[in-house]
Amino acid sequence: MSHEPRVLLGPGPSNVHPRVFQAMISPILGYLDPVFLDAMDETMSRLRYLFQTQNELTVTLPGTGMAAMEAAICNVVEPGDEVIVGIHGFFGQRMAEIVERHGGTAIKVEVGFGQVIGADQIGQALDDHPNAKMVAVVHGETSSGIGQPLAEIGKLVRDRGKLFLVDTVCSLGGADIPVGDLLIDICYSGGQKCIGGPAGISCITLNDRAQEVLQARSNAVDTWYLDLMLIKKYWFADRVYHHTAPGPMVFALKEALEIIQEEGLENRVARHKEAGDLLKNGLTDLGLELFGDPENRLSMLTCVMIPDGADDADVRGRLLNDFGIEIVGGFGPLKGKAWRIGLMGYSATERNVHYLLAALREILGA
Ligand SMILES: Cc1ncc(COP(=O)(O)O)c(C=O)c1O
Repeated sequence: MSHEPRVLLGPGPSNVHPRVFQAMISPILGYLDPVFLDAMDETMSRLRYLFQTQNELTVTLPGTGMAAMEAAICNVVEPGDEVIVGIHGFFGQRMAEIVERHGGTAIKVEVGFGQVIGADQIGQALDDHPNAKMVAVVHGETSSGIGQPLAEIGKLVRDRGKLFLVDTVCSLGGADIPVGDLLIDICYSGGQKCIGGPAGISCITLNDRAQEVLQARSNAVDTWYLDLMLIKKYWFADRVYHHTAPGPMVFALKEALEIIQEEGLENRVARHKEAGDLLKNGLTDLGLELFGDPENRLSMLTCVMIPDGADDADVRGRLLNDFGIEIVGGFGPLKGKAWRIGLMGYSATERNVHYLLAALREILGA
């Protein structure tokens, strides 16, 4: 091994279960090998469990979470389409940018870092833009540690007959996100955070309403690689070649999904909550101040203000070099002012929380 393992307590990637590594070194198979096709089917079925949906089109995509974000947007947006984008941090801003790059107009409903978007704000935007095709929001804002409530927005969007797109890259696998019950039409996530798989593979689910919108497009999707209707032909009966599936990544994700089912989603969400609460209480006991709306803080990502007198780079450097622990600095308005501490997937353990708190106590002299 060329480097020592780390205790990954940043905003992703997180540590993975040894079984996931093992799966990554499974023998390589052809993309149409019957064993591989079975693995694809099993992966789809396990993904449906994770997304809590019956949606047939629930597949993996080659590429990180950004590939899924881009796919979710570019398959819907045609030139001139309006999309209402709720922005409560960095990744919402990215969604808006991607809408515009694909020729759409992003109607931004923006609140400050650390806050959540009100359903009334989305309602107002829908009133003001009756032709909007979709409403897009990020659930877990990895940049602020805040989770956006979804239920009310889902109802509003469905009542108006629009599509509802939700990014769960940060939170899926560590939070309860019943895609069907929340009336989400398109939802995606990435492998490397609470799902406990590798970076480089992502997943997406679309219901029939969303597929109807895709099928009714007047123009072809403006990227060939992420055209979901082409990708669907490979995942389902036709098995038409689209790209060479990244076998080791699919096997690793499938293993991570199997581990999730063995643990049970409810237990897994509870584990993330217990670890997250332990961390938040421990940081507060050390005299540190947590960032953002206390009502909507995420379990899996805690944003904490850097205490006066502590040097951001020095503390993070000592955590990494002396203790092998990775935490990550703040983003945008929080750059140099906050730390982001992740407890995701296999990393979300009480043991890791105690280890990090002990290390911080020593470094900060608290
Ligand atoms: C909320 C959110 N969306 C999208 C992404 C993009 O995922 P990736 O970095 O895997 O491309 C991230 C990554 O941190 C994220 O946190």
